[in-house]
Amino acid sequence: MIEINGVSKRYGETTVVNDVSLSIPPGGITSVIGANGAGKSTLLSMVSRLLEPDSGSITVDGLDVARTRTEELATRLAVLRQENHTSVRLTVRELVSFGRFPHSGGRLTSTDHDIIDDAVEYFELTAFADRPLETLSGGQRQRAHVAMVLCQSTDYVLLDEPLNNLDMRHSVQIMRRLRRMADDYGKTVVMVVHDINFAARYSDRIVAMRDGALVAHGAVTDVMTPDVLHTVFDLDIAVHDVGGRRIGDFYG
Ligand SMILES: Nc1ncnc2c1ncn2[C@@H]1O[C@H](COP(=O)(O)OP(=O)(O)OP(=O)(O)O)[C@@H](O)[C@H]1O
Ligand SMILES: [Mg+2]
Repeated sequence: MIEINGVSKRYGETTVVNDVSLSIPPGGITSVIGANGAGKSTLLSMVSRLLEPDSGSITVDGLDVARTRTEELATRLAVLRQENHTSVRLTVRELVSFGRFPHSGGRLTSTDHDIIDDAVEYFELTAFADRPLETLSGGQRQRAHVAMVLCQSTDYVLLDEPLNNLDMRHSVQIMRRLRRMADDYGKTVVMVVHDINFAARYSDRIVAMRDGALVAHGAVTDVMTPDVLHTVFDLDIAVHDVGGRRIGDFYG
């Protein structure tokens, strides 16, 4: 369970996350949607302790994030940041191996190597495994970062726009992997995604934000409505039920 209690973040006079309270139950996929600047990354960064809230508190699995050691948190929660600042001189395999660091402390066991090999293969990175990240395309590099995060094998996975730069097939591949992690292993996935149809198709819950506040959160059918989407995006979006699924359709 992730519990966010009355969390706010300000920069100068501007409040970018405004008194957000939210419980994310264990297991399943929660997608966070919202326009640019809505506060999605700021909220995720506070949950993963990359940023400190100005007020409020956050617990993950009952642990107060502000008072938990980084090493302890890293065995429970893995995070993919929106912007990756890792050294581009690393090879793909070296980057993915970093995901095992909280477990192995730098000395990789054969289990670590198996997990790394599996991730490299699943994300179709085998052909680039020994190439420096700087020689990869944007989408290939993104897949390597996602592979690293999932190699951390944590119960909680926070992903800020994991589908960035990805073509449709690789986006689907990542979502299927996340779905399997949630369904078969009870993992709790929280992700920021801009494509509302990807969010609707693969999530159990959607959290909708606007101007640092929650607009709605709950089951896909409760949040994927023209009203909520209009509030979130300032855009007229029709919502259709097709084969039991919600599909958003925007007009010009
Ligand atoms: N270090 C900072 N100093 C001042 N303002 C900041 C800082 N970091 C973020 N902001 C502001 O906080 C607001 C929320 O930013 P955030 O990155 O959380 O948005 P977001 O919902 O993730 O948007 P996007 O979809 O573009 O990634 C934005 O208006 C942004 O300009
Ligand atoms: Mg963001």
